[in-house]
Amino acid sequence: MATSAKAPPSDVAEIVDVGFEYTHLVERLSPGGRYIDAQSDVDSPWVPFGDNAAIKHLAFDVRQNLFSNILWVKKPGAIGTHLHRGTITMVCLEGSVRYLEYDWVATPGGLILETPGESHTLVTDHPDGCKLFGWMQGPIEFYNADASHAMTADVWWYIDHYESYCKENGIAINPKLYV
Ligand SMILES: [Fe+2]
Repeated sequence: MATSAKAPPSDVAEIVDVGFEYTHLVERLSPGGRYIDAQSDVDSPWVPFGDNAAIKHLAFDVRQNLFSNILWVKKPGAIGTHLHRGTITMVCLEGSVRYLEYDWVATPGGLILETPGESHTLVTDHPDGCKLFGWMQGPIEFYNADASHAMTADVWWYIDHYESYCKENGIAINPKLYV
């Protein structure tokens, strides 16, 4: 019986032609992998998200209502209570963040998972706020303090948030953000 490898072959840095039989379909149909520079504003600008926050949009997938971005809350503050209808995966990059509903505090390198049906209220107490990288699925419903519905953010909302800011500021739309 063959023993399974404990790690992939990594002794030579060279390209191997794996002979994948569907390459012609991949070339015709796949949106393709890509690199988005999130450290600079070359690929995507910071777009204001209220008075104390900004979003750097990184990817939009309209087929699956998925979007990726970095949320930057610039100083201590909150993002109001919201209900998720999809799944959220986030990593804290800088600062710290917590939710009023939970007992943990996310710090850089920490993974935050949110699941459909959860509602919660994001707070950062850190003097520099927080930066959160997210790979997210919509829609997200935001609520007012009186529990009335304020707005719904899905992939279309995020695309409009990005494109309307670009249009107002004479910034070219980056086709790399659309997967
Ligand atoms: Fe959330």
